[in-house]
Amino acid sequence: MASSTTTNKLFSAFAFSLLILSPLALDVAKADQPIQDGLSLSFYDSICPNLESIVRKRLKKVYKDDIGQAAGILRLHFHDCFVQGCDGSVLLDGSASGPSEKSAIPNLTLRARAFKIINDLRHRVHRECGRVVSCADLVALAARDAVAVTGGPDYKVPLGRRDGLNFATAQATLDNLVAPFANTTTVLAKLAVKNLDTTDAVALSGAHTIGIAHCTSFTDRLYPNQDPTMDKTFANNLKTTCPTANTNATTDMDIRSPNKFDNKYFVDLMNRQGLFTSDQDLYTDSRTRGIVKSFAVNQTLFFEKFVIGMLKMGQLGVLTGNNGEIRANCSVRNKDNFLISSVVEDEGSQASQF
Ligand code: HEM
Repeated sequence: MASSTTTNKLFSAFAFSLLILSPLALDVAKADQPIQDGLSLSFYDSICPNLESIVRKRLKKVYKDDIGQAAGILRLHFHDCFVQGCDGSVLLDGSASGPSEKSAIPNLTLRARAFKIINDLRHRVHRECGRVVSCADLVALAARDAVAVTGGPDYKVPLGRRDGLNFATAQATLDNLVAPFANTTTVLAKLAVKNLDTTDAVALSGAHTIGIAHCTSFTDRLYPNQDPTMDKTFANNLKTTCPTANTNATTDMDIRSPNKFDNKYFVDLMNRQGLFTSDQDLYTDSRTRGIVKSFAVNQTLFFEKFVIGMLKMGQLGVLTGNNGEIRANCSVRNKDNFLISSVVEDEGSQASQF
């Protein structure tokens, strides 16, 4: 009896400590992920101590007004990191050296507003701290906040990334990103190149628990023949949204809770209601099926593995130290930014729309 009371007390103390910490606080130490040389959890502590609160405060408002923007930002971070590393190169406009990464096919469906949101954050942060925080770090922080604000896990982001001086070619962008019609073999192979393992692949795909997709990303599963691995009612509903293969419409990716970062995406897959081949095949393929099931029944496990995947992804090919630069404008490298001094000087006077 005495020992059970002690156990209860211990349990209550544990539960209370979980409550007074952030409800889903997962930090880097618990996720047990190594931090790349040059990055650190306290990188801006002395040079921009309010960085994280400026970013989160602003994004809470942006996401409150339009929750869909959270998904747009999360995807932006993925597309930044997978192509040439998390160096903000996806943010750059094209230049005399060629068309930008932004204009490569997979990036055409990135939300135009996501780029504006990042530049607006840059403006706010540089106004307070000067030009010390990179656009690449702002994307990483904004993606973390996208997850946390929509109900997912909160975690600490290693910071200190620098912005790249050039962008990748359209071909390199295509080669490094994964197409929605990829099967699990291709998904695993493409992620393995980035040192992301099978669990990372399934967990990171769980980002599709929020956001939307255009018909063209999945109508290959509807026309001319319906993919037999797709639930029939789900397919019929998608056909209503996308009456032809090239309809310019969008649909939610997670039909159960489209704006909430939770584990319902995996429940969708178990009900054959995954939108892309790359999603649904994770449940068909024996190498990933068990992981899908485990995440569908255990959201905490999914969150834990998702954080690990994000920390790995978020440190891919980072530029640190004296490499790269801190851009004065996220869409233009400093060398091409002839107004660089006035851009920084004018920070205080520009009224932001985002
Ligand atoms: C594993 C391979 C992946 C494939 C094949 C893939 C493919 C896609 C495609 C085709 C879209 C919809 C584009 C459109 O039609 O508008 C999309 C949306 C999205 N993806 Fe992925 N993706 C993958 C991995 C990831 C990862 C790793 C993340 C983040 C960690 C992510 C986050 C998102 C989000 C949040 C959206 C919704 C965007 C919005 O609503 O604007 N995806 N993805």
